[in-house]
Amino acid sequence: MSDLRFEQPVDDATLKDWQHVHNVIIPTHVLSLDDVRERAGRNHLEVAYLGDVLVGCSTVRPPEDDTTTATVIARVLAAHRRQGFGEKLYARGLDRARELGAEAIETVILSSNEDGVRFAQQHGFVETERYLLPGDTIPWITLRLA
Ligand SMILES: CC(C)(COP(=O)(O)OP(=O)(O)OC[C@H]1O[C@@H](n2cnc3c(N)ncnc32)[C@H](O)[C@@H]1OP(=O)(O)O)[C@@H](O)C(=O)NCCC(=O)NCCS
Repeated sequence: MSDLRFEQPVDDATLKDWQHVHNVIIPTHVLSLDDVRERAGRNHLEVAYLGDVLVGCSTVRPPEDDTTTATVIARVLAAHRRQGFGEKLYARGLDRARELGAEAIETVILSSNEDGVRFAQQHGFVETERYLLPGDTIPWITLRLA
């Protein structure tokens, strides 16, 4: 089996792979390719492949000008979970967030993503906020690294 490799999505193929993972895991917030391009401009995005097989993606939102809090989100397609890929994506995101000057780390999870909520809690995150976006029926949870 090949090693996990990571790419920053820069061309249409890698941007579409990032989009695919995002939209499968967050079906309540389907992003267009233009939405993903816009995010790639302001966030640090990565796509993870096992050989040529797409397995996951991540987002690091850098601290805003007036804060020291970054957001790190790892996503792994269901068929590839429980093999340590989420851990690798998350650890890279955490390193990146700290390189960007983050002193505090948050993550945001759709509450129906039970694997994600458990993963975050196992990694020391504690729920700080639960909210519904307009038109949504499934709450989002913000968690902060304790
Ligand atoms: C959260 C998420 C990224 C985890 O991805 P993953 O690839 O399954 O993560 P890992 O494999 O590193 O860890 C998951 C579990 O598998 C276990 N595991 C890791 N390698 C393993 C292996 N080789 N064999 C068996 N179990 C293994 C881990 O110990 C962990 O167990 P736990 O849940 O009891 O703590 C994934 O569930 C996901 O995409 N969820 C939806 C998105 C989301 O909510 N993201 C927010 C999280 S920041």
